[in-house]
Amino acid sequence: MMHDRVSPPSQAPNMSPTMSPEAAAAWEKRFTAALAEAAAADPAHDILHVRRVVHTAKALCAVECGRLDVVLPAAWLHDLVAVPKDDPRRSSASRLSAEAATGFLRQAGYPAELLPDIAHAIEAHSFSARVTARTLEARIVQDADRLDGLGAIGIARCFATTGVLGRPFYSEDDPFCETRPPDDGLYAVDHFYTKLFRTAETLTTEAGRAEGRLRAEEMRRYLSALARELG
Ligand SMILES: [Fe+2]
Repeated sequence: MMHDRVSPPSQAPNMSPTMSPEAAAAWEKRFTAALAEAAAADPAHDILHVRRVVHTAKALCAVECGRLDVVLPAAWLHDLVAVPKDDPRRSSASRLSAEAATGFLRQAGYPAELLPDIAHAIEAHSFSARVTARTLEARIVQDADRLDGLGAIGIARCFATTGVLGRPFYSEDDPFCETRPPDDGLYAVDHFYTKLFRTAETLTTEAGRAEGRLRAEEMRRYLSALARELG
């Protein structure tokens, strides 16, 4: 099943070309209201995920001197259309989100000249879309979304997905893939090696890569603690 997270827009808040803090706050209220009516998603992609991505995107945007008036709506609306993992339209999810976000923003009175860059940032954020991020703002949103799969929250998301998939946490014989290739179809800890550490290497902004290194260290510390406990 696919659901659209947009609720009907009302009157547009005023916004300066540079996006003042007041304008940003007013638009964020609108984005929150639009998302509040979304059907409950899995914990890896719920409203808390969106809020974390927005928080990280704002931080990266400030350090990288990106355009907040593009990054902010793109981060809020990047998962607007949710498509389950097993749905054949899964690889189109970010394009569908970009289209839905563009429609919502246009109706809401968001500056029309920003819509193409916002749509690009949303479409390019996903691995499965295979669209190269060609603006700083797209790279910021992409890094922010990928960072949410890393570090302490990434570990939580990994094990939450494990619960949904019903796979064991680790291999009893070789928990840390020392003598076998990792296979995350079999064990949760294997996902650290097949995906999570590799994701940290795909980040493209300076600020994103720095944060990615910190989160990769946290994940290594976690695996060390787990190894000590397993004995
Ligand atoms: Fe996301």
